[in-house]
Parts: sequence; C-alpha cells; structure tokens
Amino acid sequence: MGKVMAISNQKGGVGKTTTSINLASGLAHVGKKVLLIDFDSQGNATQGLGANQNNSQATIYSVLMEGVPIQQAIVPKVNPRIDIVPANINLAGADLDMDKMEYGKEELLKKAIAPIRDQYDYIIIDCPPSLGLLNTNALTAADSILIPVQCEYYALEGVTQLLITIRLVQRTSNRNLKIEGILLTMFDIRTRLSVDVSQDVRQTFGKLVYQNSIPRNVKLSEAPSRGVSIFEYDPKSTGAKAYAGLTEEVLKRNSKEA
Ligand SMILES: Nc1ncnc2c1ncn2[C@@H]1O[C@H](COP(=O)(O)OP(=O)(O)OP(=O)(O)O)[C@@H](O)[C@H]1O
Ligand SMILES: [Mg+2]
Repeated sequence: MGKVMAISNQKGGVGKTTTSINLASGLAHVGKKVLLIDFDSQGNATQGLGANQNNSQATIYSVLMEGVPIQQAIVPKVNPRIDIVPANINLAGADLDMDKMEYGKEELLKKAIAPIRDQYDYIIIDCPPSLGLLNTNALTAADSILIPVQCEYYALEGVTQLLITIRLVQRTSNRNLKIEGILLTMFDIRTRLSVDVSQDVRQTFGKLVYQNSIPRNVKLSEAPSRGVSIFEYDPKSTGAKAYAGLTEEVLKRNSKEA
C-alpha cells in the first residue's frame, strides 16, 4: 500500500509546491514509484512539471466532482518516473461545490485514490494555501502531513493554527493522521531572522523538525520554468543537495516505521 503524504500549510508561498515537486522527484530518483496530486487551483505543480500541455486532459476536479476515474486523469511519467494528476483553475470552485454535498464531502479524495494506492510507493498531495474543504479532503486521505515552514516572522503562529486543524481532522475524519515532519524552507544563514526562527521552531517541535533545512536558492525558483525538478535542472545546486538530504531523511523515518 502506498503512503499518502499531504504537503500542507495554510500560509501562502512557504514552499509547499517546491517541496512537493522536489521530494517527489527525489523519491523517484531512488527508484520509488511516485504519484503527485496537484490539489491547488493555481496548478503550480502541474505547470512546474510541464504537465499542462493538453486542454482535454482530465484533472483532479474531474475526478472529485465529475466522477472521472483517477486512472484517466493520471499523466504518466511527466518527469523521470513521476506520474501526476494535474489541477487547473476549475478546482477553485470545488470548495463551494463540495460544501453543498450532504454526505461524505470530506472523503472525496480518499475514495478517489483508493483504487490506485497499491500501485505507488508514495502519493504526494500538493495542498492549497487555505484551510477549507480541499485541505480537509487532503488530510482525510493522507497517512501523514509534511509541513513546510518558511523561516520568517509569524512562522510559529501559522503552524500552531495548522496543528489545531490537524487535531480536528484526527478527531473527526482521520484518526490515523500522523505528522510526517516539519521542514524549514528558504533558510538564509546570513540573516539573523532565519537563524532565530529556525531555532524557535526546533525548540518548539523538537524531533519533528527535519535536520535538513532548505536554503534559499535561486535555482529552486528557476527549475519550474523549465518543467523539471531541481535534480534535472541543477543537480549540483545547494537546493538539490538539500532536497536529496530531505529525501533520505523521509526514507529513513519511513523505514523505521515500517
Ligand atoms: N528554497 C527556495 N529558494 C528560493 N526560492 C524558493 C524556495 N522555495 C520556494 N521558492 C520560491 O518561492 C515561491 C513560493 O514557493 P512555492 O510555490 O513552493 O510555495 P507554496 O507554499 O506552494 O505557495 P502557494 O501557497 O501559493 O501554493 C515560488 O516562486 C518558489 O519558486
Ligand atoms: Mg503551491
């Protein structure tokens, strides 16, 4: 059975999509079979992997709201060994559409991915920057949540709010939801703020925080414009090294659990 991991933080621009693409790619590079589900109407993961070329392609919206089987929405091997279920602006209406449903509105994604779970080692969900029903669906479908935290002011407040949501999901729709880990992103060793925030987060959340933090690295922001992960774009960059380190840590944590 594949492990389903939601990459989530309701705060915008903290590195969810960058982490989704590059962790997915890192896992694929060591031979894992990976599916990335773009769960954000901005479609950044879809575009960042160059999977937005065909207008007739089914998306995660068609799967959730129009009953299209997920197999039909998978774009295979969009990047070495990563399959993706794309998203586009259609998904922006999904929160409202779902809310009108009487039953099972939190479990649409969980049900949709059930038939393909055992075809993958990891299914990674790139979540939107909100705490609405889309995010609830992701957390209900997931075995665990990986939380990227940008090294800036108010980082801790954002995580505290997210932890409340996680507890709510654990009490209602997914009592098995675990915290996979907390990842410090856009770390800049030269700034006092980065160092202070990372110390605070580590002190508060201890071992949940990955040893590897992701440095601010312009290569990481350039790679999506080429439709590739950092491992194809610049494997020697500090960004690539950091995401390779994270991949190893994720694998190590998961081999201990298994
Ligand atoms: N480590 C990094 N170094 C430099 N730039 C980065 C890094 N991580 C992310 N970025 C850039 O910062 C911006 C926000 O990152 P990203 O899209 O991954 O965040 P997000 O949390 O998915 O945003 P949203 O909430 O809008 O979905 C992007 O332009 C991305 O290229
Ligand atoms: Mg994003």
